[in-house]
Amino acid sequence: MTTAPFTPATSRRLTRVVRGMPASDGAGVKLNRVIGTQQVPDIDPFLMLDEFRSDDAADYIAGFPDHPHRGFETVTYMLAGRMRHADNHGHSGLMEAGSVQWMTAGRGIVHSEMPEQENGLMAGFQLWINLPARLKMGAPRYQEFPAAALPVLQPAPGVSVKLIAGELDGQAGPVSGIATQPVYQDIGMDEGCAWTAPVPATHQAFIYVFEGSVEAGPAASRHAVARGQMAVLGQGDHLELAAGSEGARLLLIAGMPLREPVARYGPFVMNTPQEIQQAFTDYQNGRF
Ligand code: CO
Repeated sequence: MTTAPFTPATSRRLTRVVRGMPASDGAGVKLNRVIGTQQVPDIDPFLMLDEFRSDDAADYIAGFPDHPHRGFETVTYMLAGRMRHADNHGHSGLMEAGSVQWMTAGRGIVHSEMPEQENGLMAGFQLWINLPARLKMGAPRYQEFPAAALPVLQPAPGVSVKLIAGELDGQAGPVSGIATQPVYQDIGMDEGCAWTAPVPATHQAFIYVFEGSVEAGPAASRHAVARGQMAVLGQGDHLELAAGSEGARLLLIAGMPLREPVARYGPFVMNTPQEIQQAFTDYQNGRF
């Protein structure tokens, strides 16, 4: 007698819940650093997650003047405000509320990201995603989408999911052709509403709650995640979510781990210290 292989569906548990750390970057922009800290250096393939949210211009007005990137991708998702982007290859654009810019730095760009407002709320996220060794020296590439290009689904009553990358219920976010096959969702949940989010079993995943709170994980080990907290998810192919008493808004982010050595120094992320040294030399000699 033969039996078909049986793979039970596994509900992802929360393996770690942490709060971001206050940080300052660029020319003095105040941030909440969620990944890329001493306590959470990375979650392969994710190298950094910053949340910026302030209605005090002093916290953001200095912006991010010219700086290089090599060997990874930066994903900027704006919730409020306007940021002007310009690089040394002649590419520029305005990032407005609800828009996403997925920048694959590859072998190198030098760019600036500067606020295009002198007051009012500026809010959003920047995520850094590693590139596999074979793509680190590839050509730079941009994918930019306004808010209207992001599909919004209602997979359960009181739950809305904005798709930036990855698939849900036969629809896909507009970002395509990324090596780590990322899932990037902005999930809104009304008070008392619940949803089970599919998450590819091959992926590393985390959630970051930026409004309200959720209860997450299987019933037997459900855990609260409050505003400003990130939860790293264990293995499995779905995540059970229930909104707290004020509802919730959160990011669900997942990607295929690269499992390659990481050599990292500031805006350069390569595989070996020699490649980091080469990045410095190339940058100093104007080869970005
Ligand atoms: Co940058």
